[in-house]
Amino acid sequence: MRIGLLTGGGDCPGLNAAIRAVVKRGTSELGCSIVGFNNGWQGVIDGDARPMTRDDVSGILVHGGTMLGTARCHPHKVEGGMEAVQETFENEKLDGFICIGGDGTLKAAGKVSKALGVPVIGIPKTIDNDVVGTDAAIGFDTAVSIATEAIDRLHSTAESHNRVMVVELMGRHSGWIAVTAGIAGGADIILAPEEPFDIDVIAKRIKHRHRYKNFSIVAVAEGAIPAEGSNWSGKPTLDAKGNPIAGSIGHEVTKAIEAATGFTSRLTTLGYVQRGGVPTAADRLLGTRMGVAAIDGIVAGESHKFTALQGNHIVLEPFDTMMGKTKWVPEELLSAARGL
Ligand code: F6P
Repeated sequence: MRIGLLTGGGDCPGLNAAIRAVVKRGTSELGCSIVGFNNGWQGVIDGDARPMTRDDVSGILVHGGTMLGTARCHPHKVEGGMEAVQETFENEKLDGFICIGGDGTLKAAGKVSKALGVPVIGIPKTIDNDVVGTDAAIGFDTAVSIATEAIDRLHSTAESHNRVMVVELMGRHSGWIAVTAGIAGGADIILAPEEPFDIDVIAKRIKHRHRYKNFSIVAVAEGAIPAEGSNWSGKPTLDAKGNPIAGSIGHEVTKAIEAATGFTSRLTTLGYVQRGGVPTAADRLLGTRMGVAAIDGIVAGESHKFTALQGNHIVLEPFDTMMGKTKWVPEELLSAARGL
């Protein structure tokens, strides 16, 4: 078989592990040829392809990012996009696609598979970990490790300066990174989109804590929202899609805490650091296992599915399971984040 391979959406550590597994397993064990497309579905639309060999993926396991490049492109939203994908599929004499991406890119993969009737297997990657159907997506573990280390580091400077340190973490609309790194890093207050916050309650908790401690750490998800009717006058800056730009909700929360408590408060916006650098062992393993499952699956005739970690098993889950949905942080974790 000739299989097209692409990575789409925001990059993250662990993508190269999946690419490497598809190429090594596909070419050596399964007699396939793998055609890499640069820059996600945009590369498929443009026919920007290259054959991939074992040599091409040698040594990439530890590298962050994606050797294929990426872009936020969805063929069903591009004029003539689906036709161009069909044309490339024929020109390259492909038998199917393996598409590594987050909810947007996998949704596009599902639409390509259904509309064009071509075999497609998806592999979920996103530091936001918001893909329904899989316990974890590639990149999440590394992002949580980076965020936890940052929170660890903020403890010493917060304590030295008797300050409230607010750290804003990525996660788009869900709070997976803030909640898990917040708990692992011992943050005193964690704000996640799943649980709208009340700044008066936060201020009261910090004032109470500062009776016996001289510092606090507040972990804020970039998608955190104030509770309806709560005493909030913050005005986060929004992007064209109406999402708060990086650092703006963190900035407003920091300002509000300082005003309500009188304690000096400072903000750290972790930003793209959470998406960069060497993947953890867990993300290398997850990327490798999902890469193997994807190429084995498509060669076995599977299609319109994505690889999913369920418990400790990698299974193939229908695209419909995740399309148009968001995996929210469960109550069990939120209750742990609410206060220990
Ligand atoms: O989806 C991953 C992510 O890093 C989100 O956490 C963040 O909101 C967004 O991408 C940033 O998007 P961009 O890379 O387009 O700036």
